[in-house]
Amino acid sequence: MAQETRLDPAAMIYPIFVCAGDGVRREIPSMPGQYNLSVDRAVDVARRTEKAGVGGLMLFGIPESKDDVGSGAYAEDGIVQRALRAIRENVGDLVLVGDVCLCEYTDHGHCGVVRDGEVLNDASLDLLARTALSQAQAGADMVAPSDMMDGRVIAIRTKLDGGGFTEVPIMSYAAKYASAFYGPFRDAAGSAPAFGDRKTHQMDPANAREAMREIRLDIEEGADIVMVKPAMPYLDVVRRAREAFTPPIAAFQVSGEYAMIEAAARNGWLERDRAIIESLTAIRRAGADIILTYYALELAESL
Ligand code: PBG
Ligand code: ZN
Repeated sequence: MAQETRLDPAAMIYPIFVCAGDGVRREIPSMPGQYNLSVDRAVDVARRTEKAGVGGLMLFGIPESKDDVGSGAYAEDGIVQRALRAIRENVGDLVLVGDVCLCEYTDHGHCGVVRDGEVLNDASLDLLARTALSQAQAGADMVAPSDMMDGRVIAIRTKLDGGGFTEVPIMSYAAKYASAFYGPFRDAAGSAPAFGDRKTHQMDPANAREAMREIRLDIEEGADIVMVKPAMPYLDVVRRAREAFTPPIAAFQVSGEYAMIEAAARNGWLERDRAIIESLTAIRRAGADIILTYYALELAESL
């Protein structure tokens, strides 16, 4: 009765990885319990996710082939676009969110266009905007740019509006840190950079004031929901963001946070269920309105 913070699956988003093929459900080694799913299997998971009362589904794509400009990200028959259409056809009441980035689709694994070993900010904006538009055309209810290029929110907003998608909101990964905790995701999506790192566009873990600036800029460009990522190592940033801004604040409990709990639980080093609830409760207590978590489906089904 006196509990201040409660977990509500309706305010959670379940991220999944969609791959080519049929009947594929391949477990991700560094994320036990999470899978690479072909479109048909992703539809099954989407049905379960809706039935369990989770608010949304986030789609990451694993394309069959990659190139230096990430064509698969904005192809009409790209893997995420195909999954969106199939889920849209079969599942009604679930917010479908497209992850907008190029790194899963580029052969060099960077989130933008690369020239002479440098990730080019401005040259990447149009490709990101095209990705968002093609996802909206395929049925995405919301798009979520995770690339961290400057100016991509306004570029995406303009492109969506021009394409008639004025009602499709943008959830921007606004304060996304250059984090070690994305390691398992890069295994899952095969998106580790072939050279260099993401420190030119993702944030320095040492900076919190700068996060407020990044968030403010994204809101000014038209972001409807702003995200802090990762979650648990950055609860102070979540709290500051909640106090400083009006739009909903999302926090992403990332692959490394998931993997830590799973690995320790497998070793008998901590109680899995309690650790899951405690970690998510802490993220919510810090001020997150929306949580992206690989535990969303399991939690909703067990509540
Ligand atoms: C790609 C992207 C990443 C994540 C979401 N989108 C990884 C990265 O920036 O390298 C991380 C998600 C996770 O670790 O669960 N832009
Ligand atoms: Zn990326």
